[in-house]
Amino acid sequence: MDIIILGIESSCDDTSAAIIRNGFVVSNKVANQDIHKEYGGVVPELASRAHQQNIIPVVESAIKSANINKEDISAVAFTRGPGLMGALLVGTSFAKGFSLARNIPLIDVNHLHAHIISLFLRQQNDMQPSPPFPFLCLLVSGGHSQIMIISNHLESKIIGRTIDDAAGEAFDKCAKVMGLPYPGGPLIDNYAKDGNSKAFQFSKPNIPKLDYSFSGLKTSFLYFLRDKIKEDPDFIEKNKFDICASLQQTIIDILLEKLIIASKQTGIMNIGIAGGVSANSGLRNNLIETGKRLKWNVFIPEFKYSTDNAAMIGLTGYYKYLKKDFAKHSDTPFARIKI
Ligand code: KG4
Ligand code: ZN
Repeated sequence: MDIIILGIESSCDDTSAAIIRNGFVVSNKVANQDIHKEYGGVVPELASRAHQQNIIPVVESAIKSANINKEDISAVAFTRGPGLMGALLVGTSFAKGFSLARNIPLIDVNHLHAHIISLFLRQQNDMQPSPPFPFLCLLVSGGHSQIMIISNHLESKIIGRTIDDAAGEAFDKCAKVMGLPYPGGPLIDNYAKDGNSKAFQFSKPNIPKLDYSFSGLKTSFLYFLRDKIKEDPDFIEKNKFDICASLQQTIIDILLEKLIIASKQTGIMNIGIAGGVSANSGLRNNLIETGKRLKWNVFIPEFKYSTDNAAMIGLTGYYKYLKKDFAKHSDTPFARIKI
């Protein structure tokens, strides 16, 4: 019999539902929340309300587009954390209600682990190779930046992490300083395509081991712009392509430097990236080039699965379903966790 998992994601500002059949993606629907743009960042209260409005239509759309009935679903998997508490509560409560109403298992999923599992998302007949175990994963999102050893579909170990801001935060906060709307990461990526990445130099951190730090970069970027604007009030507008290209390259260099050390230290040559920042075209290209140079096997999620989506929640749920690793209805979401 087919194993059909309904995945639900509501940890931040995307409401998403997906259907995974026997480990393959059948549908994946995402409702973005444009409301946060005008506030320069995600407003938790508004996110919760938008999830509440979006969740039923998004689930209905995922089920319809998968061409199945509610009765066909074997289990429901939901993001339990980390994320915004009010946002997580919407998806968690929906999943519990669905599981109780249909009398099917409930599966809790760690959002960060699910980002790693995005490297395994395939449609049926998609023959693209998946990463072999063990592999190293650079997980870079709006809230996290870490290097992990992935030993199987459900187990991982963090070997380096940021001591302050995440890479996505560095993109978004620097974009905000430039006057760009939230989220700034994709905009910086776009402007960087037409800029010179060597035009400006920004400070790189000197952090021991495999850890990261991005708060110094943010501060040096702020001071750099403040000084330049004093000389020429139109400095940002006149140089936005070069500023974005230089800033983006600095973030990429910081990320890849530690990833190279991690590969040397562990001897692991299978290297993946995941999380929202893995959508960055500069990071993708630099990783592919570095991989060629160092003879790595590089794995990058499909662009649409880099940022938050329910397909990665559903597929992680599928692996947990196979192990009968189910959640209790009394389980509650968590805003912060370590995996
Ligand atoms: O994984 P994600 O969708 O949500 C979290 O779990 O945090 O990541 C969102 C982050 C944001 O900081 C956003 O600016 C960044 O990913 N991001 C990008 C790009 N697309 C999304 N950063 C740089 N370049 C991109 N193309
Ligand atoms: Zn995420």
